Amino acid sequence: MEDFIQKFHSGWAYLALLVLVVAVVNSLIGMFSKKEFTSKDRKIALFGLIAIHTQLVVGVLLYFVSPNGLNMIKAVGMGGLTTESRLLALEHPLINIIAIVLITIGWSKHKKATTSESKFKTFSIFYGLGLVLILSRIPWKIWF
Ligand code: HEM
Repeated sequence: MEDFIQKFHSGWAYLALLVLVVAVVNSLIGMFSKKEFTSKDRKIALFGLIAIHTQLVVGVLLYFVSPNGLNMIKAVGMGGLTTESRLLALEHPLINIIAIVLITIGWSKHKKATTSESKFKTFSIFYGLGLVLILSRIPWKIWF
């Protein structure tokens, strides 16, 4: 079971990141070219939200079953974490949760925005910040 969850989290990450990158690029293009915000733009952002929330749910499950998540902290204590194990057990989960909170705030804020420009701007800022945070704490060495 742990193996399945780990593989799913590892594989879904490609899709989640791809959809999120598309959503950020789409909102930047919309913002700079002063396009009208259509239902297509809303759907792209919604897919980004769903993909990243799925990653969050699987990530939280993984945190409790993987030897590299909470079990690592239980085994060695906070002070015993190395640079690599701290990334997996602490930094990656924490920063990603913050990133997903930002993305979710962006989604709800866009609903209150009244102009196309402000909708694109909201997505550019909140989804963009979320993406940067996520990319900053991906365990690249074990992923690729
Ligand atoms: C946008 C969100 C996230 C992305 C894109 C992401 C992506 C990844 C990737 C690519 C790996 C390496 C997988 C591999 O071994 O090949 C990984 C590992 C891991 N992730 Fe995430 N993750 C996200 C969110 C989270 C969250 C929110 C948690 C926990 C609360 C979490 C917990 C973990 C753990 C514990 C590992 C280490 C798994 C192991 O080696 O057994 N992730 N993540």
